[in-house]
This record gives sequence, structure tokens and C-alpha cells, in this order.
Amino acid sequence: MNPPNTPLTPGLFNRRGFLSTSSKIAAGGALLGALPIERFALGASPGDTIKIALVGCGGRGSGAASQALSTGESVQLVAVADVHADRMNGSLNNLKGQHKDKVVVKDDNKFVGFDAYKKAIALADVVILTTPPGFRPMQFEEAVRQGKHVFTEKPVAVDGPGVRKFLAAVEEAKKKNLKVGVGLQRHHQTSMIETMNRLHDGAIGDIVSMRAYWNGNTPWLNKRADLEAKAGRKLTEMEYQLRNWYYFVWLCGDHICEQHIHNLDMVNWLKKGYPVSARGNGGCETRKGKDYGEIFDHHVVEYTYADGSICFSQCRHQTGCWNEVAQHAVGTKGRTNFEHGVITGENPWRFKGGGKDAYQQEHDDLFAAIRNDTPYNEGENGAKSTLTAILGRMSTYTGKEISWEQAMNSKVDTMPKDLAWDAEPLVKPNASGGYDLAVPGNAEWFKKVV
Ligand SMILES: NC(=O)c1ccc[n+]([C@@H]2O[C@H](COP(=O)([O-])OP(=O)(O)OC[C@H]3O[C@@H](n4cnc5c(N)ncnc54)[C@H](O)[C@@H]3O)[C@@H](O)[C@H]2O)c1
Repeated sequence: MNPPNTPLTPGLFNRRGFLSTSSKIAAGGALLGALPIERFALGASPGDTIKIALVGCGGRGSGAASQALSTGESVQLVAVADVHADRMNGSLNNLKGQHKDKVVVKDDNKFVGFDAYKKAIALADVVILTTPPGFRPMQFEEAVRQGKHVFTEKPVAVDGPGVRKFLAAVEEAKKKNLKVGVGLQRHHQTSMIETMNRLHDGAIGDIVSMRAYWNGNTPWLNKRADLEAKAGRKLTEMEYQLRNWYYFVWLCGDHICEQHIHNLDMVNWLKKGYPVSARGNGGCETRKGKDYGEIFDHHVVEYTYADGSICFSQCRHQTGCWNEVAQHAVGTKGRTNFEHGVITGENPWRFKGGGKDAYQQEHDDLFAAIRNDTPYNEGENGAKSTLTAILGRMSTYTGKEISWEQAMNSKVDTMPKDLAWDAEPLVKPNASGGYDLAVPGNAEWFKKVV
């Protein structure tokens, strides 16, 4: 299940690997047939430069593009796509400041709109997908259809249908020898790798129980009134939800999906598997107000794994409370805080430091695999850790015990049928101008959630 977890040394540019990737993809070209592809991943045209497209030019997208451009000399950003021109231009200006000679985006290669990603993907060898996660399955599917290597941020979906679409595209990517990196960067963090190796070697014996936390404060909020004052007009509902995406399930997946996935993914790594069921409690206790959309401010979930071991998970957006972002485990021979590289008990150990920034390391590893044509696909784990978070959300929204199969096979598709600024999202304001939150124990809500 685990993606490559040993940092790779970025090798010298391997022309032979580059060409062999190219010929495999060219051979697959017959399959791709008459698709409107301007450039196949690596090797479409002679020359060593790896061309990147950035889809979703926000905070993380700008960071990921900068890290991709820092993986070697022969990397260029050639195309960008966003639904918002202001975000796109801001990101491009920042990136030009950091990587003047590597940002070569012609005006014609700046694409704005809901379909913009298709055009940007066509111009690149490697695509960076960093929009809100609701769009990830369709954008990843398109990148794979066009035969491109991908770095995608986590989570990779927000609902069961999205996870299935993503997983199907992962299989396609494998057939096409495309490399896929997923932004669960702890897999590339030296402290985490060293801790996990020890835990897998039995440092704390058999795992009895685990705890995972992402307890913190409310993240950014874009209030409708502020956005409308800035725009000088009323926003359509689609415009508002996109600008305030964190608070809508179809875009964000709720914070259990958007943030807590990191801790849940680490627990899955420790267990070398995924939970079989979840039961939870949740709600929105302190974060009140129309602009906070439809997500909860806390989720408390008990995940059961196939061997009967249990992970107690909490994530919370409430100010003035105790905060922690970490994972712990108790075993028959000791304990660990495996966020912070600490093991106590029969085999005490503490991580001494070292290693690169994990955000940079994950790009170094992906680009080394592309250059050297070594197997690299973090997609399946990314999708299953995403489903772990979705499973937890389903359990807190319904108040029921939910199985992995129920979450994986869910038919609840949160994506609107039409994507346009004047199209209607499926979730709309209620009579008071706020949004309805899931009601645990309610049979109608169960149908809307699972
Ligand atoms: N791995 C990590 O530690 C980490 C850290 C931060 C963010 N992230 C992830 O990165 C993703 C983006 O988060 P962010 O903080 O950069 O958000 P952001 O709001 O800063 O950026 C999102 C960008 O996507 C654009 N966008 C929205 N819909 C789009 C569409 N359909 N097509 C093209 N562009 C679209 C927005 O206009 C915006 O520029 C999220 O999935 C988040 O979970 C990961």
C-alpha cells in the first residue's frame, strides 16, 4: 500500500530512461488515437526540458510549482490554469520572482475557466493539480487520458464516486507508465520514514491502539459581504462557493478530509492497511454563521482495522481549546508519538534531526522517478487514505457505523452537473441564508450522505 518512502537522490538526467518512457507512451499512442493531445508526457519532442502545467494557482499550487521547478535545471513552467484570473496572475508573478528563467508562460498559455485545465494539461509533461479537491478526480482523469505525469495534492476526492473515478485513472496511469505523486508529504519526511521503519520492525511490539489528532483553529474564511463589496456586485452562488470553498463538502470534503487526512494516512501506513469501519460523533458547536457553509467544526471517529485494532481520531476547528496535530500508538512493548519521531518503552529512540523539507523531497522523488523511468505511483494509497477520511465524515454526519464498502460504493455524487458561474451548485442557502448541516440519526440525511 505504501508509496515509495525512501528519499531518492535526484539522478543525473537519464536520457535513455527518458527515451524509453517516450517510446512506451508513443506505442500507447494508438490507444490514445485521435485525442487532441499536443504533447505526450516526456519524449514527445526532442530536448531534455520537463514542461510543467499548474492547475489551481493558489497557495499550495504556487508552492508545489516552486518545488517542482527546484528539482533540477531542466524544468520549466509553461502553462497555468485557474478559474480566477486574479489568483492565476498573483501566483505567476510570485513564481517569476522566485524562478525567473524557468517560468516561461506565454500569454496564450494562461487559461481561465472551468475547462482551463484541459488546455494547460495539453502543453505539459507533468501536471500539478492543486485546486480544491472536489475537482481532482476529473482533472486527474483528464491528465491521465492525455498521458501526463501528475503531482496531485491531497485529498484526491471528496466522495465515493470521486474516489472510484480517481482509482480507475490510477490503473490507467499504471498501464501508461505515468508517474503519480500525491501530496501526503509525510511519506517523504525523513523523521517519519525512520520512525515508521522502527515501528514496522516491532519497536513497540504489537499495536494495541492508536490516536490521531488535527485539533486547531478555523482556517481562512471569505465572507460573502466582503467578496461582494470587493466585486462591487452580487456574486452568483457558484462564485461565492468557489471563493469560500473550504466550507462546502463538494469542494472541500469537510476538514476531516482536507486536513485530518494527513494523520489518518499515517495511521494507515503504520497499519499497512485501511479501516474496515468507522463510527463517529460530530457537529458544529462553536462556529456559527452563514459564511461557514455546511461543514462541521468537530469530528470524533473510532476507526476499526481488520485485526480489530482501533484508532481514535479527533479533528476540531474551535478556538480556545487544546490543540494538537499528531498521531500516537500504544503497543505491547512501548509507545510512540509518530508525528514527532519519539518511541518510549523497551526500545527507546528519538529522531535526531536531518533530512530535507518534505514538500521539496516529495517533488525531488517524483521528478527523479520521471527522469530515471522508475516505477512511481502514490495514487492508490492517496485515494484510499482519502476514502478513510470520507468514511469518517459519513459516520459523523449520519451517527451510524459505516463500513469501508459502504463508503467505497456510495452513489452520493456531490459534484454539480454543470460547471459555470451561473450554474447551480447542488447545495444552496436555506431560507435564513445559511446552509443546512447534516443531522446525525436522521434517515433523510443518511440518504444524502452515504
Ligand atoms: N499537502 C499539504 O500539506 C497541503 C497544504 C495546503 C494545501 N493543500 C491542498 O492543496 C489544495 C489547494 O489548497 P490551497 O490552500 O492552495 O487553496 P487555494 O484556495 O489557495 O488555491 C486553490 C486554487 O484553485 C483555483 N481553482 C478553484 N477551482 C478550480 C478549477 N475548477 N480549475 C482550476 N482552478 C481552480 C482557485 O481559484 C485557487 O487559485 C487543497 O486540496 C489542499 O488540501 C495541501
